[in-house]
Amino acid sequence: MQITEDGLLLRPWRPTDADDVLRACQAPDIQRWTAVPRPYLPEHAHGFVTDRAPRGWKDGTSTPFAVCDAGSGELLGSCGLVSIDHTLRSGEIGYWTAPWARGRNLAARATRAVARWAFDRLELRRIIWQAELGNHASRLAALRAGFRVEGRLRLAAPAPGGSAEGWIGSLLPGEVPEPGTPGPAGPGTLEARRAAVFGRPHPELFATVGPVELRLRAMDERDMDALVTTSRDPETIRWTSVPDPYERSHAEAYLAYHRTSWADGSAACFAVADADDAYVANVDLRIARMDPLLADVGFLAAPHARGRGYLSAALGALTTWGFTTLGLARIEWRANVGNVASRRAAEKAGFRYEGVSRAAIQYRDHRVDAWLAAVTATDLPDH
Ligand SMILES: CC(C)(COP(=O)(O)OP(=O)(O)OC[C@H]1O[C@@H](n2cnc3c(N)ncnc32)[C@H](O)[C@@H]1OP(=O)(O)O)[C@@H](O)C(=O)NCCC(=O)NCCS
Repeated sequence: MQITEDGLLLRPWRPTDADDVLRACQAPDIQRWTAVPRPYLPEHAHGFVTDRAPRGWKDGTSTPFAVCDAGSGELLGSCGLVSIDHTLRSGEIGYWTAPWARGRNLAARATRAVARWAFDRLELRRIIWQAELGNHASRLAALRAGFRVEGRLRLAAPAPGGSAEGWIGSLLPGEVPEPGTPGPAGPGTLEARRAAVFGRPHPELFATVGPVELRLRAMDERDMDALVTTSRDPETIRWTSVPDPYERSHAEAYLAYHRTSWADGSAACFAVADADDAYVANVDLRIARMDPLLADVGFLAAPHARGRGYLSAALGALTTWGFTTLGLARIEWRANVGNVASRRAAEKAGFRYEGVSRAAIQYRDHRVDAWLAAVTATDLPDH
């Protein structure tokens, strides 16, 4: 059993592959994102190539292929189906690329080959892809192999310190892009650009207000007390829908939202810290679900830090990053009609008032009208 496609040779594993498997599976991201044992020892590699892989082929539950260079035979990665259900005619794809073979789109190319073979030869009717939320390299490979990423699923066994949720997608016969064609989500596309941002650690941004240097960074546990104080402030309660009464558990849930939304690339939320690294505000940029070029902002400032221009400066840094790094076209601000302080902060950061949106905000148990302002990529000074 072997497949040759797009310069790759996919063949069953051999005992002599054990050393290469051992070497490849030391890669921190393979250990981070797959279920390989940690630490990965020689007996694991040996057991995989001599026992688990051949057993999968024999009992028909998996088709693990070694992915090799078709010319030289060098081992480059692993790709195959697991959890094959012959009644449903469905299977799940899994892959890793050896660190020495990165940068060649190997997983997408190998997955296309395996999928084509599985639809033709095994007569499967569906292939599933699953990954932990935040594994953008895997998501990009799946999209490039033609998968439709359809949603999220809570994980049965989350990795320690990892996300509690995963992405899930599927591929049907007839949807596999031809070998050598770019297919969806290729280099330079918005998907690839966003993966390059959200697949990396949370960045830091900087803003200056007179002599004060502000740092926009990921929120974490040390910000919880200040977030509780800010959210219990009467002005915050009056103008936003923060829970009232606001408990510490609400702040912790908000922190979890920060982390999950970064991992899945739906929002970039920053704590704004002063020179002592103390929380003075938070600013959130949330990408619209139906329009990837549109986002909106949400923010809170600590009561003691209001009226100093901190929020406007942080918002300016955030919107500039949204246009230049995320490639957004338009960023909106909305607030309950009458929230003059929020409007002034937004306008100082470059948002232009556009009008009143009727019944645009759910405020506690009723709808209220909102002021709407926006800043667009064409407003940037060097546009
Ligand atoms: C997922 C994986 C197999 C992809 O490997 P690959 O196909 O060789 O990927 P490449 O190195 O060719 O990179 C493909 C694209 O992903 C991007 N990419 C790579 N690592 C990334 C990361 N950590 N975050 C975001 N994007 C990343 C690359 O920049 C490239 O995009 P571009 O073509 O637009 O420049 C590989 O990253 C891997 O082995 N990861 C660990 C194991 C794993 O996660 N398996 C899947 C479990 S569900």
